[in-house]
Amino acid sequence: MNYNQVQEAATFIEKQLDNKPSVGLILGSGLGVLAEEIQNPTTIPYDAIPHFPVSTVEGHKGQLVLGELEGKQVIAMQGRFHFYEGYAMEQVTFPVRVMKQLGVEHLFVTNAAGGINERFQAGDLMLITDHINNMGTNPLIGPNEENIGARFPDMSEAYNKGLINHAKQCANELALKVQEGVYVGNTGPSYETGAEVRMLRTLGGDAVGMSTVPEVIIANHAGLKVLGISCISNMAAGILDQPLSHDEVMETTEKVREDFLRFVKKIIQTLPQ
Ligand code: 6GU
Repeated sequence: MNYNQVQEAATFIEKQLDNKPSVGLILGSGLGVLAEEIQNPTTIPYDAIPHFPVSTVEGHKGQLVLGELEGKQVIAMQGRFHFYEGYAMEQVTFPVRVMKQLGVEHLFVTNAAGGINERFQAGDLMLITDHINNMGTNPLIGPNEENIGARFPDMSEAYNKGLINHAKQCANELALKVQEGVYVGNTGPSYETGAEVRMLRTLGGDAVGMSTVPEVIIANHAGLKVLGISCISNMAAGILDQPLSHDEVMETTEKVREDFLRFVKKIIQTLPQ
């Protein structure tokens, strides 16, 4: 049932394209500017696409941008759907299945996240090496879509090692310092308490956010190769003696924007076909 909706959405999008996208980009809070670099863009608002949910959060535009970026055909989501907004997991992850249906092979997932690792600081970029699903649910619960993937999908390389190594090499070439670590997906919308942050550190988390994990589970189910990049927009609660605010998140992502753009563009430019 969901699969027919995926096909209908993909068909609608395909009709507006000359080229198949090979790279999918999910652009997190404050990181949507990357889509503005896409050449000869086709822009499709989410509310125009059959079965697509509609985005509500500040700092999220709510549209697909398709076209050429650094010599590759890409499809970018400017704004994503969050579980805390009240969307079902099926809705949160719907665009990932549409991307797969359109021919995407590499999915780049980005987000703003709070730093748990005390060696991090606001403004750092972090390559996601693995995640902890702390959302209390899983987007694959329900009947399995056999034509998409396995009932019990392997998650042992949720974030593709080859892509991580490629990204590290790009960082080196740009003389960019990038951290690596484990992303914890919480539901939000409240930020964590100090005690919760200490717990997540004990559990092996390096950064915490409110997205990404559902999309990455669905991507792995569908056989997509995933690269995840977090922008550490602030340190999580209890590390610095200051309250957290969404304004700080947006301010920091603004400051890292240039590095983030250079980094992702380089990764795409030198990505082996
Ligand atoms: Cl500190 N926590 C969560 N859950 N999400 C965030 C964050 C913190 N900072 C940015 N996004």
